Amino acid sequence: MKNIAVIGTGYVGLVSGAGISDFGHNVVCTDIDENKIKRLQSGEIPIYEPGLQELVSRNVQASRLSFSSNVNKSIKEADVLFIAVGTPEGENGASDLSAVLEVARAIGNNLNSYKVICTKSTVPIGTGSKISDIINKSSINSIEFDYVSNPEFLREGSAVKDFLWPDRVIIGASSSRAFDIMKNVYRPLYINETPVIETTIETAELIKYASNAFLSVKISYMNEIANMCDEIGADVHVVSKAMGIDGRISPKFLHPGPGFGGSCFPKDTKALVSMAEELGTNLKVVESAIEANRLQKERMVEKLYTLLKNDVKDKTIAILGLAFKAQTDDVRESPSVNMISALKNDGAIIKAFDPAANDNMKKIFEDLDTNTSWEETVKDSDCVIIMTEWNEFRGIDLSKLKELVKDPNLLDCRNILKIDDLEKLGFNYDNVGRKKR
Ligand code: UGA
Repeated sequence: MKNIAVIGTGYVGLVSGAGISDFGHNVVCTDIDENKIKRLQSGEIPIYEPGLQELVSRNVQASRLSFSSNVNKSIKEADVLFIAVGTPEGENGASDLSAVLEVARAIGNNLNSYKVICTKSTVPIGTGSKISDIINKSSINSIEFDYVSNPEFLREGSAVKDFLWPDRVIIGASSSRAFDIMKNVYRPLYINETPVIETTIETAELIKYASNAFLSVKISYMNEIANMCDEIGADVHVVSKAMGIDGRISPKFLHPGPGFGGSCFPKDTKALVSMAEELGTNLKVVESAIEANRLQKERMVEKLYTLLKNDVKDKTIAILGLAFKAQTDDVRESPSVNMISALKNDGAIIKAFDPAANDNMKKIFEDLDTNTSWEETVKDSDCVIIMTEWNEFRGIDLSKLKELVKDPNLLDCRNILKIDDLEKLGFNYDNVGRKKR
């Protein structure tokens, strides 16, 4: 059993801290945000993430998990430190590393015994050596430490499951001592035969970006194929299903939609392109995926305008789904933001509903009219748009929907509604690559 401090209690930090405590270690999650720590200490979970409340409560009760705003003390008492602070987008698409480097200085100042210092935040290639340099420079007693890059692959909405049952664990380290300690941290997974990749720090750093960018490319590719389906009258679901049966392609991340959003793909693709530019190499495929994604978000707006014959002024538009995907309250880079901006600009009346993200979207559009059910939202509307694939929208009774709306216009940006039913009920509808001709 190890004493572990996780620095930064955002998405990655909180889920990782709770997950590692579930593996049987003593974990303190620490953050300079005293208010956040107080909320956590009182049992409140500041993010919406299925299963996280139970995971945290279970481990707090077992005295394996605690929260502290005393970062320096937490550093001193730990054997292994995880850096999990944010790396937002900085200038020219590059990552802003100021929080990570600040933590490195705090670690250097408080290094009182040998420790493994491990980065979970997504950081550009070469950050490991920057962090090690800072710790070396700020450590007064020249105490030994090892640095490890241990990128995280959890997804919002399924973060707990992704952490406890990952596809693989990546450990990039400079010494066998550090590898052994990290393998001990992840012992339950190791016993479970989860693949553990031991590699260099730089390779581990690149694996994270290469994976996220690849998935982004996959999505953009499928979105463009869906757009071709629109023109041909082909069904993109059948195309992606058939493609996915080929084990070399795999069925995952082949769902077309309104464009990828969230705090990772948009930021990480840009950061990778910016790194490639600095290195003087090309990443044309990723550059194109970013551009295709921008166009996809615009295309959803164009689809709506075509459906309504460009007549949106003073029309009541019901938007179902604000989060960038289901099972999260996160609206960062959400395609709904583009849709709302366009409609607001052109004088439409917007009514919106998301089961989890109403409040977060109101931080962007203060005067947004948010509702508490899909029925209330669509009532007397001129058009309904599905922006997020929440299960409760999949189950919408289309006959009831038709009775509630003023005009049966419907844009399904997630392809979750049954086309046959929409046809039968006489909806004027569109979707992403599945429209019957
Ligand atoms: C993503 C990665 O999937 C995680 O492995 C990674 O750890 C995380 O970024 C991160 O770097 O922290 P996340 O952004 O939470 O996770 O969500 P995803 O499920 O990957 O979805 C990203 C976007 O792609 C969403 O807008 C989603 O709607 C879209 N998407 C996903 C599609 O349009 N089609 C698909 O088939 C899959």
